[in-house]
Amino acid sequence: MSKILILNGPNLNLLGTREPEIYGSDTLADVENICAETAKKYNIDIDCRQSNHEGTLIDWIQEAINTVDAVIINAAAYTHTSIAIHDALKMLNCPIIEVHFSDPASREEFRHHSYITPLAQKVIKGHGSQGYVQAIEFLAKELS
Ligand code: DQA
Repeated sequence: MSKILILNGPNLNLLGTREPEIYGSDTLADVENICAETAKKYNIDIDCRQSNHEGTLIDWIQEAINTVDAVIINAAAYTHTSIAIHDALKMLNCPIIEVHFSDPASREEFRHHSYITPLAQKVIKGHGSQGYVQAIEFLAKELS
């Protein structure tokens, strides 16, 4: 059974109430439930984690080295700032899928650069919670 680590970064714990006009009305629990339903369909084991702390995300990425088959990551604002998360992801030798609820490229200039994109096999943005479903479906094909 393939195992996927799904990481969500800062402020995504407040999904549903945080700027719903941008991020949608699903809560993080809703997103995790949608992911669990999709993963079950493809017989994939998922581990969903969220942290507001850069170091915690890095610890989890390091734990993923040689222990998971793929990582789906929405590093939220750290996408645009964190060389440390980039460096941690670089140590993985499994597919990385970058997901965003919104499309950062169509928002403020400071969201246009991603430190994750150069390492990502696929970037899914602007599809809200469905982006996570698309990421799992893509990996289901890729890992089979
Ligand atoms: C986000 C986009 C980022 O620019 C922002 O900082 C977030 C969420 C998204 O999912 O659309 O927190 O990653």
